[in-house]
Amino acid sequence: MAQPLTVVIFGASGDLTSRKLIPALFNLAQKGKLPPEARVVGVARSEYTDEAFREHLKGKAKEILPGEQFSEEKWAAFAPRIHYVSTDATQPGGAKPLADWFAANEKEPNGRRLYYFSVSPYYYPPISAALAEAGLNKSENGYRRLVIEKPFGTDRASAKKLNDELHKHWDETQLYRIDHYLGKDTVQNILVFRFANTLFEPLWNAQYIDHVQITVAEKVTVEGRGDYYDKSGVMRDMLQNHILQVLTLVAMEDPNRYTADNLRNEKMKVLSTVNVRPESEAMKVMALGQYDGYLNVKGVDPKSKTPTYAAIKLDLDNRRWHGVPFYLRSGKGLKARYSEVMIQFKCPARLMFPLPPNEMLQCNRLKMVIQPNESIQLNFQTKVPDVDGVSLRPHNLSFDYKQAYKDQALPEAYERLLLDAVQGDASLFMRADEIERAWEIMDPLIAAADHAPAQPEKYAVGSAGPSSADKLLDCWQPIG
Ligand code: BG6
Repeated sequence: MAQPLTVVIFGASGDLTSRKLIPALFNLAQKGKLPPEARVVGVARSEYTDEAFREHLKGKAKEILPGEQFSEEKWAAFAPRIHYVSTDATQPGGAKPLADWFAANEKEPNGRRLYYFSVSPYYYPPISAALAEAGLNKSENGYRRLVIEKPFGTDRASAKKLNDELHKHWDETQLYRIDHYLGKDTVQNILVFRFANTLFEPLWNAQYIDHVQITVAEKVTVEGRGDYYDKSGVMRDMLQNHILQVLTLVAMEDPNRYTADNLRNEKMKVLSTVNVRPESEAMKVMALGQYDGYLNVKGVDPKSKTPTYAAIKLDLDNRRWHGVPFYLRSGKGLKARYSEVMIQFKCPARLMFPLPPNEMLQCNRLKMVIQPNESIQLNFQTKVPDVDGVSLRPHNLSFDYKQAYKDQALPEAYERLLLDAVQGDASLFMRADEIERAWEIMDPLIAAADHAPAQPEKYAVGSAGPSSADKLLDCWQPIG
């Protein structure tokens, strides 16, 4: 008989559960990727019966899952797998009702359990301790795993403290720290593009690459998240995690085999080579902005210096990347929503074609668009036909994910990540050392932003962000 599988979600009445986790589990079930005996147990303080909890989730699932993905019949088949346990798991003894639920409902003692912390990070240590107190962190057979949402700490010291707290009750192999960017197929494709092709890797170094730009632009503003966001800002919210993770995939060496630890060792090596700038130099490698109207958002300090936009320049000190700056930027309230990596190649060492006066050659660019128009575009020069002499014009070679994989929609990041955690593949999850090192890189930059004498430059909602970003780099890919 197959070992039972239970996904236990703490913070079950929250937004992430209904918007992301349940739709992802529902989709996995539809695709036959979850074993038929798999169950979901929601845990939170609110009082729900199983039935009321299912109804609450159904409303959201219907709204979120597009087109054919949701139907009453499919939901009716899935819903009985969902259960609810009401308890305050942050208190000593708080996991007892969950232990009782397992005792009553799980015949086989060695089941597989995935605990998902979808709660405020403040509650990670007490819930982890309550689970351990109830003996729910260990099993003779089967497994007990913990999936932990971001933010993981607010700086290196707090991330280390949190790691230490968790390690009191869990081995590192039981911990799955989520960065949903790693769950995106287009982010994983960075490694396939680099290491399953011959064409690009020989050029992927300081000899041929001038610089790299990684952009995550968002149209949305902070909206209802003022409380959280004002303490985080864009550097904690986006750069320390999602964007640095993308950088590691762009810059890493290929491990000898594709295993979680090999991969994470290579990513960790990249992070170790990043030059950490002291706070006193931070402003030389950083441009910050705050969108107009941010100070009126509920939960935001009216004098807040929290940046909603940041562009930073990082240098990697190894042979492959020596002298190749990585420019990273992200902002809210911008004129477009997209995430992409742009590799700017160097120009040919010499050009035999005369260029018109005042015209510069646009050298090769490779764009990997992570979302929403998932694609890869290689920009190169062509000869304009039928003109006297030689005239050059850049054009794109394009690959479009949606066109190429018509009937295979790109799955939601959470589907991939939940399935990997169920199957014990930690490749796309961050290890303790990676997280701590990522904070070490960001801490002085964040401190410089906090201690800046003035507020960040204002920019209009719907614009390309603050003009000071152009002082950092004069050839950004235009936003939009
Ligand atoms: C989250 C941040 O981690 O990522 C949000 O907290 C941000 O502020 C979101 O909007 C962006 O994710 P995506 O997948 O929409 O680019």
